[in-house]
Amino acid sequence: MPSGNIPERLFTPKNIGPMRVKNRLCMAPIGGLLPLDGTVPQRFKDFCLARARGGVGMMVLTSVDFTHLDVPIQSAVADSVAHELRALVESLHEHDVRVGVQLHHSGRQIPAVSIPGYEATAASPLAWSPRSPVPRQLTADEIEDLIARHVAATVRVRDAGFDFVEVKACHGYLLSNFLSPHSNRRTDRFGGMLENRARLTLEIIKGIRRELGQVLSICCRLNGADFVPGGLTIEDAKALAPLFVEAGADFLSVSAGVYGSYPVIVAPYDAAPGYLVPLAEAIKSQVDVPVVTVGRITDPSMAEDVLKRGEADIVALARALIADPDWPNKARRGELDNIRPCIGCNQGCQDVVPGWSLTCLVNPAAAREREMEIVPAPSSKKVLVVGGGPAGLEAARLAALRGHIVILCEKETELGGQWRLAAVPPYKLEFTRYLSYQIRQLEQLKVRIRLGEEGRTAVAREQPDVVVVATGATPAKPAISGVKRDNVVTAWDVLAGQAKVGNQVLVVGGNRAGLEVADFLAVRGKKVTVVERGERAGADLGPTVRWHLRRHLSEDGVAILVSTRVEAIATDGVTVNKSGVREILRDFDTVVLACGATSQCGLVGLVGPNIKEVYVIGDAVRPRHAVDAVREGAEVGLKI
Ligand SMILES: Cc1cc2nc3c(=O)[nH]c(=O)nc-3n(C[C@H](O)[C@H](O)[C@H](O)COP(=O)(O)O)c2cc1C
Repeated sequence: MPSGNIPERLFTPKNIGPMRVKNRLCMAPIGGLLPLDGTVPQRFKDFCLARARGGVGMMVLTSVDFTHLDVPIQSAVADSVAHELRALVESLHEHDVRVGVQLHHSGRQIPAVSIPGYEATAASPLAWSPRSPVPRQLTADEIEDLIARHVAATVRVRDAGFDFVEVKACHGYLLSNFLSPHSNRRTDRFGGMLENRARLTLEIIKGIRRELGQVLSICCRLNGADFVPGGLTIEDAKALAPLFVEAGADFLSVSAGVYGSYPVIVAPYDAAPGYLVPLAEAIKSQVDVPVVTVGRITDPSMAEDVLKRGEADIVALARALIADPDWPNKARRGELDNIRPCIGCNQGCQDVVPGWSLTCLVNPAAAREREMEIVPAPSSKKVLVVGGGPAGLEAARLAALRGHIVILCEKETELGGQWRLAAVPPYKLEFTRYLSYQIRQLEQLKVRIRLGEEGRTAVAREQPDVVVVATGATPAKPAISGVKRDNVVTAWDVLAGQAKVGNQVLVVGGNRAGLEVADFLAVRGKKVTVVERGERAGADLGPTVRWHLRRHLSEDGVAILVSTRVEAIATDGVTVNKSGVREILRDFDTVVLACGATSQCGLVGLVGPNIKEVYVIGDAVRPRHAVDAVREGAEVGLKI
C-alpha cells in the first residue's frame, strides 16, 4: 500500500555518456566486502545482487588496490577473477542495472589490517597522522607507470562487461592525496599549482578515454572539500571539475573528507541528512555533465527534492541501501513507511573492529543475504516473545514473517526497551525511526502486542510452543560506599527523565552510556565531569561516533578524567583514585552512574518443562551493543 507520495523524478531515466540508466539512484561504493586473498566471495555477489534486485539504477563496485598486484591485495579487476566478475556483472545486468567499478589506490592511507609487503606511497613523504607510517614519495617514472596501470585495469574492466569505471580521486587516497595542497608538496610537474596537482588524475582519465573510446562511461569521484586545514576547498574542487570533464569524464561524483577528517566521509547521525549536497550543487554549477551527490540521504522525498531543486542529477546511497536493499523499489511503489531506515549509527558498517566484517544494526542480513534468507517455517508455532526491546522486536518480526503466530509481551507500557533511551541523547532523535519501523512491521504482520504484561503471566496464559526471552538488562550499581545516597542516580534514570539532577554533575563511567548522558546534561547547561577507570574514554565506541561525541563534549566543556576509579561517595565529596593517587572531588550535586548493566534473565527458570523451545537473546544473555541484540533476535526469528 502506498504510504507516501511516489517520488517520480527519482525514477526518470538518464543518459550518462554511452549508457542509459533506468533511474537516478546509484549504490555508492561500499568497500570492505572483498577479502585480501584475491577471491570474489559469494557473500559479495549476494550483497550486490540483492541491491540490484532492489531496483537501484546503477551501482559502483569496489576494488582493493589493484596497483599492488605483487602483494596479496584483492583486485576486483585482476585477471584471476575476471571470469567470475564477468558472470557477476551479467547477473546484475539481468536486473537492468548499470554496473561500474571504482579503481582504488590507498596511497598513504593504508588499510587498518597490516599487509606484509605493502608499502605506503604518496605524492610527498607526509604521514596522514602521527601514528601512521611516513609514505615513500613516488618518483615521476612511478607516477607514469601508475597512469598506465590505471588504464590497463580499465581495459580489464571493459572486458569484464562493466558499464562504467570510477576514477577514485577522493577521501585522501592516492589521487586525492595528489590533488590536495596539504598532502602534495612536490615541486615537479605533479605538484604546486592546481593543474599540476591534478595531472595524475587528468592523465588517467585521458588515458582511459584514449584507450577505450566511448565504450565505457567514465566517472570521477572527487572531494568537494577535504575539511582539514590547508586541504582542498570547494573553490579548488570547482576549478578541478571542468578539468576532469574536459579530460573525458562523463559524470562526476562528489564526496568529501580524508582520513584526517574521517567522520566527514561516512558521517554518523550528528550530520544533517544530505550534508554533502551543497558541495555537489556547487560543482554542478561549473559543469554540464551529470553530478552525483551522496551523504545521509535516507528519505526518498528528500532525494526527490534534491533532484527537483537541481542540486544534483543522481543520488547515491551507501548506508541506506545496506539498511534496506529494496529502498528503490519501495520508493517507486510509494511504500515509504516500509523502508527500513538507516539511522546513521555506523555501528555495523563503519565503526567495525579489524577482522569484523560488514553488518548493519537495523539489517542483520546485510552481507549475509544467503544465510539469513527468510523462508517459511515448516510448521506454524505459537511463539511468545518476552521483551519489546531491539532483540525481541526483531525476533518477533522474523518469526511472524515466517508464518508463526507471534505474541509479544512487554512489561512497560511502551515498546522499545533501552532503545527508547538510546534515542534521547543529543542528535539521536532519528533512532526513533527504527523503532517506529519495527512497530509498524509488527502491526502489519498482526503480531499480538501485550503491553504492561509480565512474561510470567503471559507464559501461563498463552501456553506457547516457543518462548523467546528478550528481557534485557538493568543498570549495574558498583559496590562502592555511598552508592545508595539520594543524590546518586543512574544514566538510565536521567535519560528517562526520572531523576532530579543538580547543576554540578559527576558521571561515573566513560563508555558510550557515560559520554552520552554527559552530553545530554551538558547541553542542558550542567557542569559535567566524567570519570573513567580505563585509560581511554569511549573505548567501546567506533572511531566515527567516538570522534563526534568527543568533539561535542569538548565544545560543551565536559571534563573527562581517565585512569580514575571512584572509591566512595560521601557528603563532602567523591573519593577517587587516579593512577594510585587518592583525591576528593568536591561540589557535585549529583552523581550519575553509567557503570554497565546486569542481565535480566530470571524468566528462564520460571518457564515450565512443557515448553520445549526456549531461547534467550540480547542483553538478557549478556549486556552488549544493540547491533548484537538485533542480530541475535534475527537469528532466533529465523531458527524457530
Ligand atoms: C561500509 C562502507 C564502505 C565504504 N567504502 C567506500 C569505498 O570503498 N570507496 C568510496 O569511495 N567510498 C566508500 N564509502 C563511502 C560511501 O560511498 C558514501 O560516500 C558514504 O557512506 C556516505 O553516503 P551514505 O550516507 O549514503 O552512507 C563507504 C561507506 C561505507 C558505509
